[in-house]
Amino acid sequence: MFWKCALSTNNNNNNEIVGDEAAYLMKLRDAISPAPPTWFNVTNMCDWSHVICSTVGNNRSVEEINLNSMSLKGTLPSGLNNSFPYLRRLILNKNSLTGPLPSLAGLSNLREVVLSDNNFTSIPHGCFQDLYSLERLSLYSNANLSPWTFPAYLTGFSGLVKLNLADTNLMGILPDIFASFPDLLILNLYGNSLTGLLPKSFVQLINLQYLNLGDQEHGGLSGTIEFLSSMTRLDSASLERNSFQGPIPDLSNCTYLQDLILGDNRLTGEVPPSLMNLSMLEEVSLENNFLQGPMPFFNTTITKNISIEGNGFCLDHPGPCNHTVTTLLQIAQAFGYPLLLARTWRGNNPCKGWSFITCDIQGKIRTINLTKLNLNGTISPAFGNLTDLRELYLSRNGLKGSIPGSLTSLSQLRILDVSNNNLSGIIPIFSPKMVLNSANNALLLKHSPSRTTPLWIKF
Ligand SMILES: *[C@@H]1O[C@H](CO)[C@@H](O)[C@H](O)[C@H]1NC(C)=O
Ligand SMILES: *[C@@H]1O[C@H](CO)[C@@H](O)[C@H](O)[C@H]1NC(C)=O
Ligand SMILES: *[C@@H]1O[C@H](CO)[C@@H](O)[C@H](O)[C@H]1NC(C)=O
Ligand SMILES: *[C@@H]1O[C@H](CO)[C@@H](O)[C@H](O)[C@H]1NC(C)=O
Ligand SMILES: *[C@@H]1O[C@H](CO)[C@@H](O)[C@H](O)[C@H]1NC(C)=O
Ligand SMILES: *[C@@H]1O[C@H](CO)[C@@H](O)[C@H](O)[C@H]1NC(C)=O
Ligand SMILES: *[C@@H]1O[C@H](CO)[C@@H](O)[C@H](O)[C@H]1NC(C)=O
Ligand SMILES: *[C@@H]1O[C@H](CO)[C@@H](O)[C@H](O)[C@H]1NC(C)=O
Ligand SMILES: *[C@@H]1O[C@H](CO)[C@@H](O)[C@H](O)[C@H]1NC(C)=O
Ligand SMILES: *[C@@H]1O[C@H](CO)[C@@H](O)[C@H](O)[C@H]1NC(C)=O
Ligand SMILES: *[C@@H]1O[C@H](CO)[C@@H](O)[C@H](O)[C@H]1NC(C)=O
Ligand SMILES: *[C@@H]1O[C@H](CO)[C@@H](O)[C@H](O)[C@H]1NC(C)=O
Repeated sequence: MFWKCALSTNNNNNNEIVGDEAAYLMKLRDAISPAPPTWFNVTNMCDWSHVICSTVGNNRSVEEINLNSMSLKGTLPSGLNNSFPYLRRLILNKNSLTGPLPSLAGLSNLREVVLSDNNFTSIPHGCFQDLYSLERLSLYSNANLSPWTFPAYLTGFSGLVKLNLADTNLMGILPDIFASFPDLLILNLYGNSLTGLLPKSFVQLINLQYLNLGDQEHGGLSGTIEFLSSMTRLDSASLERNSFQGPIPDLSNCTYLQDLILGDNRLTGEVPPSLMNLSMLEEVSLENNFLQGPMPFFNTTITKNISIEGNGFCLDHPGPCNHTVTTLLQIAQAFGYPLLLARTWRGNNPCKGWSFITCDIQGKIRTINLTKLNLNGTISPAFGNLTDLRELYLSRNGLKGSIPGSLTSLSQLRILDVSNNNLSGIIPIFSPKMVLNSANNALLLKHSPSRTTPLWIKF
């Protein structure tokens, strides 16, 4: 065959590709169909369509293979990484290529890898190892890939700008390697089976403009979404259909935000008023969470696509909540808006179906019993606004901070049980008629040295 002749008679100082590179291109031509016509009738592979060569020393070398959108079928031959030391771009997206991906390990000049919209079946272990020049890796929409985990070895280089692994059957947790991607602008992991907490280093993606973690199977990602507040360049953030918890953070520094898609999670608490102020926000989706407090009100000349149904807002229209509801939500806020409160602390009447709260027939809150609920956070001073409260049980939680002085103004309070927490500070002086149990709070100071010892009642 003519190409073999070229291979054996020309080595250096000519315009042709030789050796392993030529051999791989021939294998590739035979493995895919329909291969481009020029690959059959043009001798010099550097003149093949879809192949770009560069000059390295005296030799010609393949710099780019670009076969996107050519309806190609077939399986890529193995040995690709041993054949093209100078490859910079491998663009094979929008075909029907199948079989295992060949390893790309060690291709230290590779900048762009675009394999999306194919039907690859597996990714070999270490496939993307030592790609020190990688800027863009796109594999999205290879739905038949056998399950794999996010490559924890994707470190040691910092130029990655775009990473798209959406719909690739990724599973498991994300490794703590995101500090390696200071320049990452686009991260799309949509439509996989990722689970667990996001790693600590995730907050370091401060230049991110597009983030999509939406639609993870099997429960998906969990933890809070506080990390969003540090990603101040974001224009689009999609976290829908996961198990994210806790409140929506203050996103007032995310001034470029256009799309915020948080539906179908377990978010709790009030929608921060600053969200309604974001001047570029076009689409907000908050549906099917456990959000509480006033229904948010967006300026519809800016925010055109708003979806907020399926939450626990106090009213079905924007406007302030009942005072007692506002107070109870301030109390929940100090606990970090736990889901187990948000499940029933919804709507505008705390005497109707709210767990842990007992009202009298006149609709006055008499008892709050939050014993042993694994609560974290602090005791809110807002308890002092529940003027009808008689009994307050907060024992056996993980509460920190001090007992707020405002509780001393509750003239009807007869029992306060804060035992078995991690409270600290000095116990305020209560009416002697009240029974206080403060046992087992190692850091709680019972006696204010400057005052006479009040009558502590222990039980
Ligand atoms: C190679 O084949 C293609 C398609 O059949 C044709 O367009 C092209 O002119 C041919 N080139 C040469 C050098 O024969
Ligand atoms: C050029 O090709 C020759 C023969 O294949 C090889 O020995 C040499 O190392 C190559 N030079 C470069 C710079 O790759
Ligand atoms: C190519 O990939 C294989 C399999 O991952 C690996 O063993 C080999 O070392 C790689 N080649 C280079 C040049 O890194
Ligand atoms: C992908 O490949 C599988 C076999 O591995 C085949 O059953 C399926 O039809 C292919 N899907 C597409 C979209 O080509
Ligand atoms: C916004 O940025 C400023 C300046 O960096 C910082 O002081 C402030 O805490 C940030 N606000 C939020 C809500 O993150
Ligand atoms: C909303 O924007 C207005 C005008 O810039 C400002 O006065 C107000 O404090 C902002 N509200 C919040 C909650 O950020
Ligand atoms: C809504 O935004 C438009 C455009 O910025 C502004 O002109 C209008 O006053 C705003 N309306 C309200 C109710 O804030
Ligand atoms: C509005 O949001 C829904 C659901 O997220 C989406 O299907 C629809 O395309 C969006 N409409 C516009 C005009 O952006
Ligand atoms: C708020 O709710 C409480 C408890 O249901 C009720 O007693 C009170 O009248 C309500 N306040 C207002 C202003 O509706
Ligand atoms: C408070 O709740 C705990 C746990 O549900 C329960 O064991 C206890 O009896 C309750 N206390 C009162 C006074 O209802
Ligand atoms: C309190 O914190 C612990 C440890 O972080 C956590 O496991 C627990 O779920 C938290 N409690 C609530 C009610 O969220
Ligand atoms: C409850 O009390 C706190 C301080 O003790 C106050 O800041 C807050 O605004 C009060 N809440 C309501 C709803 O009155």
